[in-house]
Amino acid sequence: MLSVLQLFTHSPLRNFSYIVYSDRSGEAVCIDPYDAKLILTHLKKHGLKLKSILNTHEHNDHVAGNLELKEETKALIYSHPNALGKIPGLDEVLKEGDIAFSHESETLVAWDTPGHTNCHLCFVLKNKTSHKAVFSGDTIFNAGVGNCYRGGNPSTLYNTLKNRFFSIEGETLLYPGHDYWDSNLNFSETMEPDNKEITKIRNLAEAKKETSEFLVSDFSMEKKVNPFFRLEQTTLQNNIREKNKETDFDSEKSYFLGLRRLRDHW
Ligand SMILES: [Fe+2]
Repeated sequence: MLSVLQLFTHSPLRNFSYIVYSDRSGEAVCIDPYDAKLILTHLKKHGLKLKSILNTHEHNDHVAGNLELKEETKALIYSHPNALGKIPGLDEVLKEGDIAFSHESETLVAWDTPGHTNCHLCFVLKNKTSHKAVFSGDTIFNAGVGNCYRGGNPSTLYNTLKNRFFSIEGETLLYPGHDYWDSNLNFSETMEPDNKEITKIRNLAEAKKETSEFLVSDFSMEKKVNPFFRLEQTTLQNNIREKNKETDFDSEKSYFLGLRRLRDHW
């Protein structure tokens, strides 16, 4: 079985890095290393051998630990083909559907997910029958989605979410690139003040903090509080229309773009 370590760095960006590893073989990959020393400490603690470094995209807060981690472990670095020349130490590219890591019947597969940037991969942990987890980088956050003003495009982001994530199984876990629960739930509340699920999930997230842990959501939880996954809700649609007075709304995509604009200026 493949297991996951979620590693948090107390920077202003509240970064998550991940180690995915095989209990049986002790082999591991690291997704988005930020603090190389933190990763090395956890590899040692769990007796793991790092095979690969996987970057979801080219932004510095997702690749900052690349070179030090590569130097210490000799692991190769993999990312999106469009990231060549943009990511320090990048050795190999992964295209849509390529397998980044596997153990027995479980695989970690690259999905080409442009929008936050045009070099963005999500890594999806699958077994034979289902999608167990998504490492979403800056494509999807808890109760939010990524912005698009550093190399991305909101229309492309909508297409990625619609085609790949709006109908993914509710049980699929979400492992984002940052902990943005607090700010995103606050924004959700401004858009849907009567949504009682927001308070419930905020309380769950707060309870986790007491043990220095983080609430890991799944897509069914996201559908309760993530406004970008709730575009059919009447209250939300009314608020998006009201706050974007100059724009016509005639499709799910238009509401998505209106909501993304509001979040950009919130
Ligand atoms: Fe980013």
